[in-house]
Amino acid sequence: MHSKQAISAMVAVGMATGAVAIGCSDATITISSPADATTLASCDTVKGDVVIATGAGSTIDFSGDLTSIGGDLTCQHNGGLIQLSSTSLESIGGAFHLENITMMSTLKFTALESVGSISWQSLTALGELTFGTPGVTKAESVVIADTFLSSLDGINVRSLTDMNINNNRRLTDFSTQLSNLTNVLNINANGLNLKVDLPNLEWIANMTISNVTSFSAQSLAAVNGSMRFDSNYFESVSFPNLTDVQTGDFSFVSNPKLANLTAPLLTKIGGGFIIANNTALEELNGFAKLETVGGAVALRGSFSEISLPALDDVKGTFTATSTGDIQDSCDVLDELSSDGGNGDIQGTYACTSNNTNANNDTSSTGSTGGGTSNTDSGAFHLSSSISTIVTLASLAAMVSAFL
Ligand SMILES: *[C@@H]1O[C@H](CO)[C@@H](O)[C@H](O)[C@H]1NC(C)=O
Ligand SMILES: *[C@@H]1O[C@H](CO)[C@@H](O)[C@H](O)[C@H]1NC(C)=O
Ligand SMILES: *[C@@H]1O[C@H](CO)[C@@H](O)[C@H](O)[C@H]1NC(C)=O
Ligand SMILES: *[C@@H]1O[C@H](CO)[C@@H](O)[C@H](O)[C@H]1NC(C)=O
Ligand SMILES: *[C@@H]1O[C@H](CO)[C@@H](O)[C@H](O)[C@H]1NC(C)=O
Ligand SMILES: *[C@@H]1O[C@H](CO)[C@@H](O)[C@H](O)[C@H]1NC(C)=O
Ligand SMILES: *[C@@H]1O[C@H](CO)[C@@H](O)[C@H](O)[C@H]1NC(C)=O
Ligand SMILES: *[C@@H]1O[C@H](CO)[C@@H](O)[C@H](O)[C@H]1NC(C)=O
Ligand SMILES: *[C@@H]1O[C@H](CO)[C@@H](O)[C@H](O)[C@H]1NC(C)=O
Ligand SMILES: *[C@@H]1O[C@H](CO)[C@@H](O)[C@H](O)[C@H]1NC(C)=O
Repeated sequence: MHSKQAISAMVAVGMATGAVAIGCSDATITISSPADATTLASCDTVKGDVVIATGAGSTIDFSGDLTSIGGDLTCQHNGGLIQLSSTSLESIGGAFHLENITMMSTLKFTALESVGSISWQSLTALGELTFGTPGVTKAESVVIADTFLSSLDGINVRSLTDMNINNNRRLTDFSTQLSNLTNVLNINANGLNLKVDLPNLEWIANMTISNVTSFSAQSLAAVNGSMRFDSNYFESVSFPNLTDVQTGDFSFVSNPKLANLTAPLLTKIGGGFIIANNTALEELNGFAKLETVGGAVALRGSFSEISLPALDDVKGTFTATSTGDIQDSCDVLDELSSDGGNGDIQGTYACTSNNTNANNDTSSTGSTGGGTSNTDSGAFHLSSSISTIVTLASLAAMVSAFL
């Protein structure tokens, strides 16, 4: 193998006179030409990083003997690259980092299965991935931002720490085999018709989902932190298997078409229960088993009915308010705050009808003022401005934290 590599290195020198030869064991291998890529392809494995330089050419292909890169594979701020490919590469130990490559239309890695992390940003001409089936099945984190991709087929990871899919304007379908995620799933500001389906997801630490047209997670049984859904376009969402939101909030804010929200097995919310400014949601009666809320309950909307038949323990404030008449519901809910209910609500209690401003307050706090409002639900707070955390700047910070 050594002699083959040495010959490759000599060939490289011969082909690009004056260029520095590539060695398979270099700590950083810089690809400055298509010929360098050919040399790289003749290594069986490389332990270090591979960097594709600006000006390396329009087509970089390192298909050949190379199956594994131990470090990162990086290409940034490259306006000339059109095609990046390898049909032999199976794993990247570090980050697969592609950023600001605005002409690249082909990303072809048909053998790639395992990546330390995927971090792709500003690949504005990339319309599809040419990956194998099932494609990448192992990765720690995945960030895909500002691409022209219409699907993420080829990324089929089952277990992740983080996933952030944002500003992919053409993305319409995202269906993945993901079964658990240990930190945060963030889906925001993608195509206006994005359908998200996570059929195998069993538990997730936190998720913030915005601007999606449908959302389905039929197997989801537990959320360890918070779940937040802001400014989505779906009419109906159900969590048929969800029993427990362990430490954070269950929050639906400003989803203008939402008319049916159900979590029939949900018994406990560790943080706040926030349903606000979903103006089409008239009946809030899909939480038949909800017993315990560790934070505040804030239900503000255009309700005609609110029914929480099993609720018997609220640590924070309880606010229910509607633009419409919910007097019948209030008559039942009032029992929770009376002594007969054994002080089921520890914070202040209010239930009001005919409140023209009921949809104006989208905060996660109790709005009745004073009292022992428990608004610190132990999770992250971003109810009113999810979009601010998903700026590309913060994304860059997140990305570098993973590298
Ligand atoms: C993106 O890359 C181009 C070169 O192709 C460069 O001129 C530009 O400054 C880069 N943009 C950013 C935001 O880094
Ligand atoms: C997470 O999902 C993976 C893949 O399905 C599975 O092997 C692993 O056991 C799961 N971990 C936990 C803690 O549930
Ligand atoms: C989340 O909750 C599930 C179900 O209780 C548990 O199996 C999993 O280990 C928890 N994950 C984290 C990161 O706490
Ligand atoms: C719902 O949860 C139960 C028990 O946790 C599990 O056996 C069942 O397969 C789940 N259903 C779906 C559709 O995932
Ligand atoms: C996600 O949820 C966990 C609880 O499982 C929590 O400890 C953690 O701080 C949360 N992460 C973020 C970024 O909110
Ligand atoms: C609301 O959604 C649930 C679960 O999908 C469904 O069973 C129920 O019939 C729906 N209710 C209405 C009024 O559409
Ligand atoms: C709400 O307004 C309607 C129509 O004005 C009125 O009939 C009803 O009594 C009001 N309800 C409450 C609780 O004030
Ligand atoms: C509440 O929102 C309505 C409709 O957007 C608006 O007309 C009204 O002025 C708002 N009220 C307050 C107190 O901001
Ligand atoms: C309520 O939701 C509507 C529609 O999504 C939005 O335009 C409005 O700004 C929201 N109101 C507040 C107070 O956030
Ligand atoms: C997308 O969601 C954010 C909240 O997370 C909201 O501010 C923004 O207006 C939404 N965009 C569209 C086009 O609905």
